[in-house]
Amino acid sequence: MIANTPEAASPAPFAHRMLTEIHQQPEVIAASIEHYAEQHQLRPEIWQPILAAFGNCSQILIAASGTSRHAGLVAERLLEELAGIAVDVEYASEYILQHAGSNPGAAVLVLSQSGETADTLAALSEAKRRGAATIAITNVAGSTMARLADAHLVTAAGPEQAIAATKSFTTQLTVLYLLALALGQYRGFLSSADVEQHLSGLADLPRLIQQALPGWQTAAETAAVNFLHARSFLFLGRGLSYPIAREAALKLKEVSYIPAEAYPTGELKHGPNALLGAGAPVVILAAADPANPSSFARYNKSLRLLEDIQPQHPHILAVGVAGDPNLPHLAAEILSIPAATEYLLPILEIVPLQLFSYWMAVQRGLNVDSPRNLQKAVTAE
Ligand code: G6P
Repeated sequence: MIANTPEAASPAPFAHRMLTEIHQQPEVIAASIEHYAEQHQLRPEIWQPILAAFGNCSQILIAASGTSRHAGLVAERLLEELAGIAVDVEYASEYILQHAGSNPGAAVLVLSQSGETADTLAALSEAKRRGAATIAITNVAGSTMARLADAHLVTAAGPEQAIAATKSFTTQLTVLYLLALALGQYRGFLSSADVEQHLSGLADLPRLIQQALPGWQTAAETAAVNFLHARSFLFLGRGLSYPIAREAALKLKEVSYIPAEAYPTGELKHGPNALLGAGAPVVILAAADPANPSSFARYNKSLRLLEDIQPQHPHILAVGVAGDPNLPHLAAEILSIPAATEYLLPILEIVPLQLFSYWMAVQRGLNVDSPRNLQKAVTAE
């Protein structure tokens, strides 16, 4: 059982639930890690039933909605790179209407904070009807999806009350990283030494976030003040950071009602650049792990793109690694994150961008915890 950490142990009184939940992330990520791993080893008693349910599948289909689907897009890369499994990610609402013969033999993984979202629940029921092995990752142990799926992984986010998902997203990412490691080890894709190395890096993540939060709080507020009158935003990211660009754009739309789009950075020149101009800032995710050649190559390409657009379009907010010598010449505002391995960057990137959305909404005088038209769980199809 996961101890119900959050509400009681909130770090300090914050003005809004969303801000409280953003600040709970170090604690709930740590609790999620502790549930599934101990002393840099995966807990066999927890993983055995999961691996029995779908360890030998050749393909995984992830079905989810909203923020949970963005976690699925990160998981797609983690599972492919760390466990060698082909992954497709679908909108749950699309999966249920697809031809029943698509993705034959794929195990179906549903992701849902609430475990009750109607479209995702329908996708789970449809997957079962088609005879697929099913796994659910939810934040509610007794939720309908948790009960229906062949196997269930719970996150330790605790109750999330602000409509905009924050801690549920980063704990989903944490559990999905652990799942990729468990499957990678089970399938012989990763050695136990590899897994231990990943887990030792992951164990440090809560501390990195905790230490960075005060600086992010200030920098995100400053950036929000400076971009307050923007009419729209374009978020760009490559690799694992592309789904984070999508999630950051969704967060901004949800709480501040500002139109925001997200693209893979390299797509900018294929159409979205027509949107560049005053009042339409670019937010670029440009953090890299220099020890990882493909991560560094993505970073260098992003720098070249910034050099191209910056003279005509200086309205740039960059998320980069602290001490980056290049970004201060290319971006008007920077949100700095601590240096970390490639697989930890998504979580480190989204937290300051959650704060940026929060401050945009607050500066605009909006009800950040209950934005218009939104529900915490959409339980009608
Ligand atoms: C609603 C919420 C979103 C959430 C989505 C999926 O649309 O407003 O914030 O991401 O549902 O919710 P779930 O509980 O399935 O993760």
